[in-house]
Amino acid sequence: MATPDDDQPPLSPPIPKYFQEPEMTQECRDLISTLPTQRGWIHETIHQYQGFWLETWIMQGVVAFQKHFQAHDTDILLATNPKAGTTWLKALSFGLLNRVRYPDIQQHPLLTINPHVLVTILEHLYNKKEVPDLTSFTSPRLFSTHLPYSLLPISAKNSTCKIVCLCRNPKDTFVSRWHFFNRLRPMSTGALSLEDAFDMFCRGSSGFGPYWDHVLGYWKESIEKPEKVLFLKYEEMKEQPIANLRRLADFLGCPFSPEEEAKGVVNDISRLCSFDNLSKLEVNKNEKSFGVENKVFFRRGEVGDWMKYLTAEMIKKLDRITEEKFHGTGLRF
Ligand code: A3P
Repeated sequence: MATPDDDQPPLSPPIPKYFQEPEMTQECRDLISTLPTQRGWIHETIHQYQGFWLETWIMQGVVAFQKHFQAHDTDILLATNPKAGTTWLKALSFGLLNRVRYPDIQQHPLLTINPHVLVTILEHLYNKKEVPDLTSFTSPRLFSTHLPYSLLPISAKNSTCKIVCLCRNPKDTFVSRWHFFNRLRPMSTGALSLEDAFDMFCRGSSGFGPYWDHVLGYWKESIEKPEKVLFLKYEEMKEQPIANLRRLADFLGCPFSPEEEAKGVVNDISRLCSFDNLSKLEVNKNEKSFGVENKVFFRRGEVGDWMKYLTAEMIKKLDRITEEKFHGTGLRF
C-alpha cells in the first residue's frame, strides 16, 4: 500500500487553525443541513453545493464571498484547483505585477514572504469575516480563489476583471492532493489511504471538485472569452516557463518591454519563482503562514510523479474518466 513521502513531516497533530471551521452562522448551518454530505478529506464531512463539493470549514467563506464580493474592472483573479500550482502562479503574478516596485531581485519580498501571504485566497478571507475590509488592496488588486467558474460571484463574471486559470493533469493533481491533505489531517483521524482518496477523487467528492467540471468551466470560458480568461497548464509552464510568463504578462496587460527583455527581467522573475529557488528559502522551509507549515506547499514540483504511486488499474480508471469528461472539448493533458 502506498504511503505518503518519507521526506515529508509526520501527520500534523491538530488541524492547523487556518483550516478549522469558523464559528458558523445559523444561516450557514441551515444551508449545510439541506446539502448532500459525504466523508471529507481533512474534516469529517464535505458538502455538495451548487454542483461542487466543499469541505465544511470553507462553506461559510464561499457563501459570503459569493454574496458580498464586488469585483473591480481592474481586478486579477487567479483560479486554481487545489494542488494545480497555486503557489507558483501566485509567485509569478506577484513578481510580474510588482516588477517596477521591486526592481532589485536580491531584496524581493518573495525571498522572505510565502506567496500565500502575498496573494490572498478570497474565500479564506471571507471565511474569517463575512464582509472583510478590502480597502488596503491597491489597484490592480491581485486575488486568488479555488472556486469553480460557475460559483464565482456575479460581479467577477460581469466585470472586465481578468481571470487566470492554472490547471494540472488529473493524476499529478490527485497525488499531490493526497499528500497535502494527509499533512493536514488530525492525528486522531489517521492517514487517508491512497485507495480511499482515489475513490473519492474519482467520484468527484474532493474539495472544489469534481476536478473535471472545475477544469472544464474555466476551459470553456477561456475559449469563449479569451480576453477575460487565460487558461494555463502546469505541464506547459514547466516545459516553457519563459514563454508562459510572457503570455501571462501580455494577458494581464503588462508585457515585457524590449529594455526589460534585454536586461533579463523575464528570466529573473522566472528563476525567482522556480520550485528550486522558492522551496530552498528559509521562509518556505522552516516558517509557517496562518499556522500552516510553508513547506507543505513545496513537495516535488514535478510532472509525472503519479507514476510512483498509482497502480495500473488506477491509471486506467482515471484515464477513462478524463477521456469521457473531456471528449469533444478540445482539452487534453
Ligand atoms: P507536488 O505535490 O506534485 O510536488 P498548490 O500550490 O496549488 O497547492 O500546488 C502544490 C503543488 O505545486 C505541489 O506539487 C508543489 O510541489 C508544486 N509547486 C509549488 N511551488 C512550485 C513552483 N514554484 N514551481 C512548480 N511547482 C511548484
